[in-house]
Amino acid sequence: MSLDTRSLGYTGEQLTGVGLGTWAIGGGDWQYGWGPQEDQESVAAIRRALDVGINWIDTARVYGLGHSEKIVGEAITGRRDEVFLATKCGPHWKEDGTIYRRLKAASVRKECESSLKRLKTDVIDLYQIHWPDPPEDIEEGWTEIAKLVEEGKIRYAGVSNFTVEHLRAVQAIHPVASLQPPYSMLRRGVEDALLPYCAENNIGVIVYSPMVCGLLTGKFSKARLAGLPANDWRRGNLEFRAPAFEANLALVDGLKPIAERNNLTLSQLAIAWVLRRPEVTSAIVGARRPDQIEETARAGNAALSEDDVRTIENLLAQRQETIAAAS
Ligand SMILES: NC(=O)c1ccc[n+]([C@@H]2O[C@H](COP(=O)([O-])OP(=O)(O)OC[C@H]3O[C@@H](n4cnc5c(N)ncnc54)[C@H](OP(=O)(O)O)[C@@H]3O)[C@@H](O)[C@H]2O)c1
Repeated sequence: MSLDTRSLGYTGEQLTGVGLGTWAIGGGDWQYGWGPQEDQESVAAIRRALDVGINWIDTARVYGLGHSEKIVGEAITGRRDEVFLATKCGPHWKEDGTIYRRLKAASVRKECESSLKRLKTDVIDLYQIHWPDPPEDIEEGWTEIAKLVEEGKIRYAGVSNFTVEHLRAVQAIHPVASLQPPYSMLRRGVEDALLPYCAENNIGVIVYSPMVCGLLTGKFSKARLAGLPANDWRRGNLEFRAPAFEANLALVDGLKPIAERNNLTLSQLAIAWVLRRPEVTSAIVGARRPDQIEETARAGNAALSEDDVRTIENLLAQRQETIAAAS
């Protein structure tokens, strides 16, 4: 099955509807780790993603404190030409692993050099500011990224977690190829202003955590949550705690018949739902094992009917009411 592609904003680059996200394969040994992860399994997952036709990968220097980039670099050795490679800068870590953020020019440049080495490549296709923080340094960091484009170390410049105001500020300096915001059935903050703004300004949109970090896959239960390793950050996330967690499990139950009648799995349905918006270029979908990405890759080719979208709206409204009543 060949995977459908969409154009990344003004760049015209064709990305598959699903891109592989590599946060979880950074492993458990840091503040936002996902518990133990075997590197061999991570490499196999990345290679399977390419085997099934996914043509782009998202990583970040901070994922696993450099480990995710290193694993991506290893996995794509000999296959660099098959991948549109995206990474991010900004977050740093102290010796005790605590994360802080920097966007000073010298810091951005140094980060880029280190990412190129870990990724074992001469050029990064998409280099993104991970967070608009510290706000007073956004323009300085972006100006340096524009220089890195001129020097040929990166091909395109993008941003993540930016508001419309942040986008306006950096667009005046250098064109923005892409925005990477959160978007899922549970996080819809981008719908009213950011998605239309990106469409009007020809900015590609690559959305993250479409399955809410695994919560919408149908593989979560109270027992699974209780058994998560102590160093899996999801334990502390509000969507995985009462009263939201119970309401989220009920939502997933309600989604099952919609998935079934479309011949989709729940994971595929969650991804197809974010891709229903034409402003969205691609969904960044995390995977820790080859079978996971093999399943989700196909979601980029699925289309939902208006009736399905309406039914999902009703389920989401019910979820809100349940949470409000329990709070
Ligand atoms: N820019 C940012 O600030 C930012 C923030 C978050 C994420 N991101 C990017 O977006 C990517 C995707 O987001 P995400 O990883 O947070 O969440 P996600 O894609 O919603 O969920 C990924 C997780 O779901 C589970 N999963 C994946 N495929 C599955 C399947 N077929 N069946 C059952 N479970 C499955 C896996 O975890 P388990 O098997 O452990 O359940 C996997 O790690 C990240 O990897 C990262 O590249 C960026």
